[in-house]
Amino acid sequence: MSGLLEGKRLLITGIITDASIGFHAAKMAQEQGAKVVLTGFGRMSLVERIAKRLPEPAPVLELDVQNTDQLASLPARISEHVDGLDGVLHSIAFAPASCLGSPFLDAPSEDVSKAVDVSAYSYMSLARAVLPLLGRGSSIVGMDFDARVAWPAYNWMGVAKAALESVNRYLARDLGEHGIRVNLVSAGPLKTMAAKSIPGFSGLEDGWDDRAPLGWDTADATPVAKSVCALLSDWLPATTGSMIMVDGGVHATGQ
Ligand SMILES: NC(=O)c1ccc[n+]([C@@H]2O[C@H](COP(=O)([O-])OP(=O)(O)OC[C@H]3O[C@@H](n4cnc5c(N)ncnc54)[C@H](O)[C@@H]3O)[C@@H](O)[C@H]2O)c1
Repeated sequence: MSGLLEGKRLLITGIITDASIGFHAAKMAQEQGAKVVLTGFGRMSLVERIAKRLPEPAPVLELDVQNTDQLASLPARISEHVDGLDGVLHSIAFAPASCLGSPFLDAPSEDVSKAVDVSAYSYMSLARAVLPLLGRGSSIVGMDFDARVAWPAYNWMGVAKAALESVNRYLARDLGEHGIRVNLVSAGPLKTMAAKSIPGFSGLEDGWDDRAPLGWDTADATPVAKSVCALLSDWLPATTGSMIMVDGGVHATGQ
C-alpha cells in the first residue's frame, strides 16, 4: 500500500532533539513515503546526530532564519538533494527570557523584535526563499499555539504567534495564485526543548488533558505529526490560510 506522502519532496525545519515536533513530522513523513531534507540551526553536529534516528538518512542543511546569506543560498543547497519541493514545514520559534514567564510589562522592545523576527517574520522569509522550488499543489505548514487568547507565562511569544497567524493569512492570500497552500497547525502543549524553556510551562499544560474532550498527552507528538502530514498531503486541496486545531479540542471548551 502506498503512503500518504509517496513521492513528495519535503523541507523540514526545527529539529534540535528527538522530542522536536520537526523530528516527529519528519519521521512520519518518511514512513508515509516522502523524501525529506532537513535544516538545522546552530548546533549542527547535534542535529545531524538526531537526524540519524530517523527511519531513512536525510541531508541536514544549516539555516539560521535571521541569516540572509543562508536563506539566499538555500534553494541551491536543497537542489543538491532534490529537484524541487512539494512541501515545507516551518517549526521554528525563539524568544529571549524577558519575553517568557517574566512580567509582561517588563520586556524590552529589542527582545520582542527578536521573538517576532525569528518566530513570525521568518515564516515569510523561509517561504520566499524556497518559492522558486515550489510547484502548484505545494503546501507550506507552520506551527502555532492558539494566539487568540492570553495564556499563563506565554506572554510575548503569544504576541509573536498572533503575528504568525496573521503572516499565515497574508502568505495564503499571495501564494494562492501559485497554487500553494499555507496553513498552521495549532498544537496543544508538548514537552519539547522550546516548551521546557518557558518558565511556568506547567501553567499551560496542567489540566489540558482534563479539559480536552479527546484527552491530551503532552509526551505524544504523534497526533501533531499526523496532522502536519495531512496538510502536506494532497488531501486538503482547498484549505489555505487556516489554523488546524490539534489540541484535543481544548479550544472549543470553556473553563
Ligand atoms: N511544544 C509545544 O508545546 C508547542 C505547541 C504549539 C506550537 N509549538 C511550536 O512548534 C514549533 C517547534 O517547537 P518545538 O516545540 O518542537 O521545540 P524545539 O525546541 O524542539 O524546536 C524549536 C526549533 O526552533 C529552532 N530555531 C530557533 N531559532 C532559530 C533560528 N534563528 N533559525 C532557525 N531555527 C531556529 C531551534 O533550533 C529548534 O530546532 C515552534 O514554532 C513552537 O512554537 C510548540
